[in-house]
Amino acid sequence: MPVTRAEKNVTITHGSSSATIYFFGATLTSWIVDGREMIFVSSKALLDGSKAVRGGIPLVFPHFGTVETSRLPQHGFARNSVWELGPVTETAEETTVALSLTPGQVPFALATLWPKKFQATYSVTLNGRDGKLRTSLQVTNTDSEPWEFTALLHTYFATPDVRTTGVQGLTGFPFTDKVAGGLRVEAETRDRVTIAGEVDRIYHGVKSEEVVIDAEGKNLVSIRTNLPDIVVWNIWTKAKDMADMGDEDYKHYICVEAGSVSKFITLKPQESWEGHQILASL
Ligand code: BG6
Repeated sequence: MPVTRAEKNVTITHGSSSATIYFFGATLTSWIVDGREMIFVSSKALLDGSKAVRGGIPLVFPHFGTVETSRLPQHGFARNSVWELGPVTETAEETTVALSLTPGQVPFALATLWPKKFQATYSVTLNGRDGKLRTSLQVTNTDSEPWEFTALLHTYFATPDVRTTGVQGLTGFPFTDKVAGGLRVEAETRDRVTIAGEVDRIYHGVKSEEVVIDAEGKNLVSIRTNLPDIVVWNIWTKAKDMADMGDEDYKHYICVEAGSVSKFITLKPQESWEGHQILASL
């Protein structure tokens, strides 16, 4: 499968399927299967490294949201750092590109707010036979002290119309409703979570075989993951207050974000952690 390195990104291509990953943030900005773009990027997204990309799959590390005990900005620094392209590996069916991040690559002002030693590797695998995409984040503590973190794959999926979009596979799981001020709800009762206003929820301990997104009566994409939590987010009409989102852009995306965010994970020196998702177009 051809791998094309450009100044700011790298693209894996196979027939009519492809994946493009920017070095800035290691943010995947495009995943095309049989000519269909599966990933949303805002019409006003900045791709020049001045701000995290509004769309694609930004990486959230070393913490999700804002944390009282940390001065780091929301969602940490991984999405604001320039990652280094590492090895490309190929098998008969799949091509993987790996990108890496160490503290020296993190903008100084952010690195000093979380002065821990770590090695992060992000691997993106495109399967040329079925177009499946696997994105995997591996983190190792290279410090002499333990540290704790949360992480998330903040995927913006493209949808023809979010008002017809549903998320299946979350039934029965507890969630925190951030729009309702952090209200904790014991169980999702719906078979299909729909969007009819601003939605910002963390579903905890999701053990679905797969989570499926549908729109206009058709299944679009499935997500399989080893990560315990699923965040569902759409900004709705507050998009007009966001500098890097077009007023109507909210209609064309749904964020379904696999992560480990409900509680901090502690890594001892030399310990590693890995979280991934496998996305299949349907
Ligand atoms: C989601 C959060 O993961 O990311 C939301 O649950 C947040 O609360 C959203 O608004 C976007 O965050 P940001 O920092 O990219 O504007």
